[in-house]
Amino acid sequence: MAPLIPSSQPWVEKYRPKQVKDVAHQEEVIRVLTNTLETANCPHMLFYGPPGTGKTTTALAIAHQLFGPELYKSRVLELNASDDRGINVVRTKIKDFAAVAVGSGNRQSGYPCPPFKIIILDEADSMTEDAQNALRRTMETYSKVTRFFFICNYISRIIEPLASRCAKFRFKPLPEEVMSSRILHICNEEGLNLDREALSTLNSISEGDLRRAITYLQSTARLYGSSLSSKDLISISGVIPQDTVQTLFAACKSGEFDAANKEAGNVIAEGYPVSQMLYRLLEVIVSSDDISDLQKARICKRLAEADKCLIDGADEYLQLMDVVSHTMRALCDMPQDMKFH
Ligand SMILES: Nc1ncnc2c1ncn2[C@@H]1O[C@H](COP(=O)(O)OP(=O)(O)OP(=O)(O)O)[C@@H](O)[C@H]1O
Ligand SMILES: [Mg+2]
Repeated sequence: MAPLIPSSQPWVEKYRPKQVKDVAHQEEVIRVLTNTLETANCPHMLFYGPPGTGKTTTALAIAHQLFGPELYKSRVLELNASDDRGINVVRTKIKDFAAVAVGSGNRQSGYPCPPFKIIILDEADSMTEDAQNALRRTMETYSKVTRFFFICNYISRIIEPLASRCAKFRFKPLPEEVMSSRILHICNEEGLNLDREALSTLNSISEGDLRRAITYLQSTARLYGSSLSSKDLISISGVIPQDTVQTLFAACKSGEFDAANKEAGNVIAEGYPVSQMLYRLLEVIVSSDDISDLQKARICKRLAEADKCLIDGADEYLQLMDVVSHTMRALCDMPQDMKFH
């Protein structure tokens, strides 16, 4: 009897769409690639956008659909940040692969098998500028037999001459409906029970990143079993609970220093990252209707300064206290600058 596939396989891999048409919400690129499947013709491609939106998935799916399992090994070269992609690799491995001539492939296999190879450079924004420059000639010289797929999060880190040789596609963060339907599909397959509140929590903590949502879902299921609540998800994800943010904000509003100090101390004692707290406070403050624009501006300015200080390595508690006291003074219309006589 064939052994059962172990269920420990990460769900992000298990539920990675195998076909381009199953990639959700990225219509433009899907349309172009569907066309490629019909005409067996495609330009160099550049996929960019935030994490977990389907870039790697789309590139792997089109490569598999074009060549099928047999030809895949000889026709596709996949390189990501874990492979060395410095200038030497561009001059040797990539160039050698790009230069190999290709036959027309076996069309009887049922795959289009176009007469070119594909080189997928995932996380291309981590390639050095020299390495990117070295690719320019290679791309042109072998464009008859090779197509490049660049994938990155930050398009500004791809040098312009490379970007301008490619058809560019921006992958958008996934909206709530799309995330929800993928998550519910997985819950269904895995026999999980997720109520509406938990689903909306999962959506908000993963911020359009479906990979993050699926990873939280799997970790929570592993720890809490098949019935998951909003609280379980929050405890796994390490996000600061909304109550904690609201309590700190209320303490600032009360104008009582001791109360605010106590809440700030709690945040530190719970081990929540202060930089995340600053973002969460920002959300609360910006969306509050009962704070004037001037008060908001004062607080936001201080939040930005504290964020910079934290990046520079300042003490978390002191920065949080500084933000708290500024917020309190702004909210209670106390003078912003202390005067010492
Ligand atoms: N548009 C989408 N449609 C369906 N599933 C998706 C989509 N985007 C992401 N996923 C799911 O999320 C997982 C991660 O997606 P993928 O690896 O393609 O992200 P990525 O865009 O390459 O992110 P990164 O920039 O972090 O590399 C996939 O396994 C898949 O299950
Ligand atoms: Mg990726």
